[in-house]
Amino acid sequence: MSNVSIIGLGYVGLTLSCVLASKGINCIAVDSDKNKLQLIRKGNIPFVEPSLDRLLTSSIENGKLKISADIERAVVGTDATFITVGTPRNKDGTSNLSHLKAVCVSIGKALRKKSRYHIVIVKSTVPPTTTSSFVKDILEKESRKTVGIDFGLVANPEFLREGSAVSDTLNPHAVVIGSWDKKAGDQLESFYKKIHKDNKPPIVRTNPSTAEIIKYANNAFLATKISFINCIANICQHIPGVDVQTVASTIGLDPRIGSLFLKAGPGYGGSCLPKDLDALVAFSEKRGYSPKLLKAVKSTNTQQPHITVKLAKQLLGNLKRKKVSILGVAFKKDTNDVREAPSIKIIKQLLREGAIVSVHDPLALDQIRPIFNDKIRFAASVSNCIDSADCCIVVTDWDEYKLLEPKDFKKMRKTIIIDARRVLNSVKFAKNMKFAAIGLGNPNTFNNRDKGK
Ligand code: UGA
Repeated sequence: MSNVSIIGLGYVGLTLSCVLASKGINCIAVDSDKNKLQLIRKGNIPFVEPSLDRLLTSSIENGKLKISADIERAVVGTDATFITVGTPRNKDGTSNLSHLKAVCVSIGKALRKKSRYHIVIVKSTVPPTTTSSFVKDILEKESRKTVGIDFGLVANPEFLREGSAVSDTLNPHAVVIGSWDKKAGDQLESFYKKIHKDNKPPIVRTNPSTAEIIKYANNAFLATKISFINCIANICQHIPGVDVQTVASTIGLDPRIGSLFLKAGPGYGGSCLPKDLDALVAFSEKRGYSPKLLKAVKSTNTQQPHITVKLAKQLLGNLKRKKVSILGVAFKKDTNDVREAPSIKIIKQLLREGAIVSVHDPLALDQIRPIFNDKIRFAASVSNCIDSADCCIVVTDWDEYKLLEPKDFKKMRKTIIIDARRVLNSVKFAKNMKFAAIGLGNPNTFNNRDKGK
């Protein structure tokens, strides 16, 4: 496997292409979007992803990465094909497999022309049984060949995060190889062993459906951890002097719990956690089991942005004609992605209540412009966003917001600050102004107490 094709150049596919090329693998990266290909050929990334641009430029320059729109030629010219197309959500929550279907038809046609064994690797997040039935059936029909004999088939899910896609791809916590046939699994295992020869991540060998459910279980557990701590945060808020951050960091010391993904906030967003949870619930319900826990995770998350607005209302009263500034619209820091971002729900509710909204974000303003147009004001700097406001809500955990001090808010009309991300120093802020934060029970009581020491 020294020549591979990668089909679908989103976060997963483009990052994988650049990382493999940087490891000396000859890659043909394919996408059907001509504008995207034009950008990528010039060394530009069509989204924000730290350190990917350098890797893309060097991979193109050293000749290891070729960009193409032709799936069939890419498959014919390589030993293995990674499928990394999107699987968006249908209205009923199920995964939309139309991109996957189109790509499989083209791969099948290409396989018909090939005499050598070729491995097809499904990296897209797909519901259990998709690889071993949906994908296999299309490939066999179009290629008129047999899986396990003429070509190999593997489900090989991806665990990278936006914002750290390159380092996650270079250093995965695990590699999951769900192979239909042993030959394909063995070849992919030795491929990954070479790629990761220095860090040697655990390699899990299993069947395709197990690999597929592992990915859903992974994201569902992460979503559960976040909704759990948000639920505890919402309880803490009613207990004077209690801070969910102390609770989270302490329960995180228990190795059975672990400290990561216990940051209370305005709820999880992005293109994966919400969509994958819906797909898992829909998959399960279609089979007659209603996963109540996962549904509660979702409804807790749906409610979380409204808790933030409620805090603003408690300190500000009626929101009508009140100027509210929002710091951060991206679903998390280090990305310009606003898909399912809690900021959107917060802004919509503020507008419904008659507030006048201004927003700031270091990278994502252009992404929300089409959603709100002239209904809100887009500010080029933090000070421009908050000056003369009645209330400021911090919604994204950008590093530049962590540096803000009470003096930076002095030009507000009323100094009311809501920290929905817990990035500000609550003790300092509560001393100087009206301050509330997710998971923080009355901070003034907290300051006046002896904190148990
Ligand atoms: C997520 C998973 O973390 C990846 O492992 C997975 O590969 C990816 O989905 C995918 O399926 O492709 P990502 O969507 O990039 O990655 O974002 P996360 O870092 O998981 O954050 C998701 C949301 O949870 C963000 O809105 C973030 O702010 C929020 N979050 C995260 C919290 O509110 N609290 C936390 O403690 C952690």
